[in-house]
Amino acid sequence: MGSAVDSLIKRISELKKRRNAIILAHNYQLPEVQDVADFVGDSLELARKAMEVSADVIVFCGVSFMAEMAAVLNPDKIVLHPNPCAGCPLAEFLSPQAVREFRSAVPTAPVVLYVNSLASAKAEADYIVTSSSAAKLISMLEDDEIVFGPDKNLADHVAQATGKRIIVAPPYGHCPVHEHLLNRYYVERALSKYPKATLIAHPETPRDVRSIAKYVGSTSQMLKAIPKFNGKVLLATEEGLAYRAKKMYPERDVEPANPLAVCIDMKKITLIHVARSLELLKHRVAVESSIARKVREVLERSLDLISK
Ligand code: 13P
Ligand code: SF4
Repeated sequence: MGSAVDSLIKRISELKKRRNAIILAHNYQLPEVQDVADFVGDSLELARKAMEVSADVIVFCGVSFMAEMAAVLNPDKIVLHPNPCAGCPLAEFLSPQAVREFRSAVPTAPVVLYVNSLASAKAEADYIVTSSSAAKLISMLEDDEIVFGPDKNLADHVAQATGKRIIVAPPYGHCPVHEHLLNRYYVERALSKYPKATLIAHPETPRDVRSIAKYVGSTSQMLKAIPKFNGKVLLATEEGLAYRAKKMYPERDVEPANPLAVCIDMKKITLIHVARSLELLKHRVAVESSIARKVREVLERSLDLISK
């Protein structure tokens, strides 16, 4: 007799066929959710995947701004977010009103927003970037002064990489997981336990962590970097990336720099939520059409620029 988990997985696969659905999952999702997904990736890869799927239904396992992006890119498809309580506290740091205020305070500077922001804020931006495209896109802009938000650590990383003056909107925006649980204290604690290990980091970590990392990049860029290093690799990002890393490189010794660095929002989607979502076609992600249209324009402009 199979376990309850096995029957849930079987149910998900049957429902997926019946609904002609595809499951997309972020690299931080629970292991069992990553395992039922058709595609697992970082924010940029998931947005790209959402643009090319032919399925009628997209079940998006990630936080709400990511599901919103999939809905914006697929106005004619059913995009489901299995648990709408899974938000991103970083995105909440910047309201559309605040974007307008920054723009009028520095009218000559283009406004570039990190994808970890509300759709209503993105609609006010000139460009949208992910952690993997931020430095590249900003270096391609002619302007030397840029308004960037809402993550102060990614803003600092971009300023260091491009030499441009970055006005951070707001100056205190941060991801609580990377800012507080992947700070220098936790990372040094891991390195003192494994002094020979190589540390690689996400750009949402503070500068004093990035400065001792051998590589800084998005979650999927971190995964691609692992084979470049010998011996143990410590991942200074949300702990869920380690599951993906171990699955991709079973022969490698990879560990989270802090196993307590958990994004509780990313873990709010369980297999039960995924099954229910497919069963009831809930919760449908709806982005107001005028906002969705503006976000699509901003995204197209951004993707056009980085693909040059
Ligand atoms: P990535 O685009 O690097 O996957 O980052 C998303 C995120 O939420 C990091 O905390
Ligand atoms: Fe948001 Fe941080 Fe969670 Fe990423 S890890 S989804 S930035 S709260």
